[in-house]
Amino acid sequence: MCGIVGYAGENNAAPILLDGLEKLEYRGYDSAGLATIGKSGIDIIKAKGRLAALKERTENGKLMQGTVGLGHTRWATHGKPSDENSHPHTGGNGRVAIVHNGIIENYNEIKEMLKNRGRSFYSETDTEVAAQLIDYCYKGNILEAVAEAVREMRGSYALGVMCSEEPETLIAVKCRAPLIVAYTENGNMFASDVTAVLKYTKEITYLDDDEIAVITKTDAEFYTPFLDKLSKKRELTKLDVSAADKGGFEHYMLKEITEQPEAVRRTTEKFIKNSRVDLSEVLPEAFARKIGKIFIVACGSSYHVGMAAKYNIEKLARTPTEVVYASEFRYSDPLVDKASLVILISQSGETADTLEALREAKRLGAETLSVVNVKGSSIAKASEHVIYTKAGPEIAVATTKAYSAQLAVMALIALYLADLRGTVSSEEYSVIVSELEALPEKLERIIKNRADIQYPAYRYFNNEKLFFIGRNTDYALSLEGSLKLKEISYMHSEAYAAGELKHGTISLIEEGTPVIAVVTCRRLAEKTVSNASEVRARGARVMTVTAESMRSLVEHESDDVITVPDTHEALMPSVSVVPLQLFAYYIALYRGCDIDKPRNLAKSVTVE
Ligand code: M6R
Repeated sequence: MCGIVGYAGENNAAPILLDGLEKLEYRGYDSAGLATIGKSGIDIIKAKGRLAALKERTENGKLMQGTVGLGHTRWATHGKPSDENSHPHTGGNGRVAIVHNGIIENYNEIKEMLKNRGRSFYSETDTEVAAQLIDYCYKGNILEAVAEAVREMRGSYALGVMCSEEPETLIAVKCRAPLIVAYTENGNMFASDVTAVLKYTKEITYLDDDEIAVITKTDAEFYTPFLDKLSKKRELTKLDVSAADKGGFEHYMLKEITEQPEAVRRTTEKFIKNSRVDLSEVLPEAFARKIGKIFIVACGSSYHVGMAAKYNIEKLARTPTEVVYASEFRYSDPLVDKASLVILISQSGETADTLEALREAKRLGAETLSVVNVKGSSIAKASEHVIYTKAGPEIAVATTKAYSAQLAVMALIALYLADLRGTVSSEEYSVIVSELEALPEKLERIIKNRADIQYPAYRYFNNEKLFFIGRNTDYALSLEGSLKLKEISYMHSEAYAAGELKHGTISLIEEGTPVIAVVTCRRLAEKTVSNASEVRARGARVMTVTAESMRSLVEHESDDVITVPDTHEALMPSVSVVPLQLFAYYIALYRGCDIDKPRNLAKSVTVE
């Protein structure tokens, strides 16, 4: 949510900032803006809507002079998307300009205080309040002013600040929202994430919470809000500039779908040695053996991974597992204790609900393990144990490769626990491990034959609504298929546990209503096929997703059949999710949707 870029260097700042903002578009936004320091002070240009509007307004940055500047993409929280509410915001009649990601929780209090001291406000945003506060604190040193303001502000935010009286300097602040500093040949930068700077450098410093960076063309220094100097290390990111481009694909989503085999391979290879799953480095054996209960806490697609994992952990490791929405966890008085393992799943590692749930779990004394894709993210840093999914940067708002990498990690966890607890036979254990190793090749096969999914998608794209049904892990998968479809194609869809349909929802089935039946659990196939036949009898058109070896079990009750390679039942979600992702992709394509940046959505949701 929101993207921030700052540059202080030798080159014209605006084109570099626009380029960085383009790489951050995936985070979700509804307006954008730039500020640079020119000869006559701070120059600001902003525009509601897509970055293209800002590019046009600034003639690709050429209209803005200055080698020091800030850029921002805004996802509205306080105040509607508009030119006026867009960032940068200013304080003190334009002396200070800031860009901001996140929320300043006590902004009303601060606003009242500033109003009583004669300040007036031009926008509805909490960001303008922060800008005015910094200006109010300014007594000739911008670092001191920002530090004083930070000591007053509560919330989760990242800030970029510039001051016309110190035109060579940028200040960046991290407080529970992501921010990195980067060092390029011709100057220094900061940004919400590494993708914005990869074109210029691989040398990065990851900021921690409550840290302030002072950035000039030649230097970067770091401080606490009490102005104690910090020494921070520089790291070389392994990510390549190609990670942030489309690599010839029409959309990031399709590119990322095709990257799934590699994402799964990279994520799992480290933990499979000599055909054994070894997670002892991240989940010590002694603790793993005595876990009383597992809570899986996450949002959106990551929550759906948790749903599939619950079935596997309970079946294989016989450990009670509860899956809870992160936004509900902390308010549900969860029965968590020292014998509980709380697993937080998050692609971004910045989802505010998940981060708060993690803090609650720690407060309650549970052991915490996060499954996170972004290195150095807030959730990764705050958890006791971390497993990184190695999916690489995921740019499309709709998650695909991170989801698959998360599923693979959860399968590793289930297997590791089952082994330690002696709840899985050695034969079954070996089959699952070798199937895990074979997964990338099976995913490749599905992706190669993606036209098989494109054709049926064409038959369904004009429908207004669609249903998904499945049982157990197929139900978890149905939820994910439905979410994918809704978020990128805006087609209304619902996912149902197949047996539940007849308890109400079946009244929505009419002549021609599409129903996607996910039937990959062999032992439940007959039951779900009966549910498919119930809806067909009422006019539904059924497309079934099933394993190659199960085709004959389903085709008599299907209008279309999509098959995926067979694997162990615990891994079926990993293969069957791919056609569902592709189905959503092609439907959205035929409906002419903005696939990578669906309306109203942000890639990382940093507000509760
Ligand atoms: O970064 P996270 O995994 O914590 O994000 C959780 C959800 O916001 C995310 O999965 C969302 O549902 C995606 N847009 C789904 O494609």
